[in-house]
Amino acid sequence: MARCSNNLVGILNLLTLLLSIPIIAGGIWLSRQANTECEHFLEKPVIALGVFLFLVSLAGLIGACCRVSWLLWLYLLVMFLLILVLFCFTIFAFVVTNKGAGEAVSGKGYKEYRLGHYSTWLQKRVNNNWPRIQSCLQDSKICRSLLNGTSTPEQQFYSEHLSSLQSGCCKPSVDCKFIYVSPTNWTNPGTTSSNPDCNAWSNDPKILCYSCQACKAGLLDNIKSDWKKVAILNIIMLVFLIVVYSVGCCAFRNNREENAWKRYP
Ligand SMILES: *[C@@H]1O[C@H](CO)[C@@H](O)[C@H](O)[C@H]1NC(C)=O
Repeated sequence: MARCSNNLVGILNLLTLLLSIPIIAGGIWLSRQANTECEHFLEKPVIALGVFLFLVSLAGLIGACCRVSWLLWLYLLVMFLLILVLFCFTIFAFVVTNKGAGEAVSGKGYKEYRLGHYSTWLQKRVNNNWPRIQSCLQDSKICRSLLNGTSTPEQQFYSEHLSSLQSGCCKPSVDCKFIYVSPTNWTNPGTTSSNPDCNAWSNDPKILCYSCQACKAGLLDNIKSDWKKVAILNIIMLVFLIVVYSVGCCAFRNNREENAWKRYP
């Protein structure tokens, strides 16, 4: 039993150690590739995660295989904190992504998005970082297919399915009652609307609705569905970590017992 759990901890940590190398490499690759603002969001957390995983796995591997008790103790402490943090984050992710959804619009294939429907915490995060996110969205290709569809007939456009970002950022809101020319070219008939997005709209491909509240809401809807996936992945990872942690605890106990035997032959 003693050998078994020590070897098991060793093998599990060797696996995570090997896993951390492509994660670090991926992070470095991202930082070399990135030429828009968007991609710079990801690389730092990815490299940090990779280095963290590398160090923790190394501690577990050496601690288990070379019977270094203090290293194994440190490893178990870090694992415990990791499980705790992951658990809290998962609960938080479910709470934050609980609110908000796109609204179906009658006669349209796409939904429309309102900022006020999403959790206030997420709204604050997006509002605080909006200039950066906005320039990143402008550089991205989200509106390209709509910009290219200059000859799309009106009824065909209304029946199209748009992503939440396309619906929020690339076209004006339905309640502005603008007159359709092409998906990204609309005429304002001069009606005034209480929706501030109607004034934010411009046919200029660089402006469109990128400063609209609906664009922020579209982004939040995207984040919401991503976080849901991450939360589910987290639960799987939590189960895995708890198993590794339990085996690690067993190995730690074995180490101590073995050391005790050596001391008192
Ligand atoms: C929008 O359509 C009008 C009328 O066809 C045209 O004059 C205008 O140049 C177009 N604007 C853009 C930005 O394509």
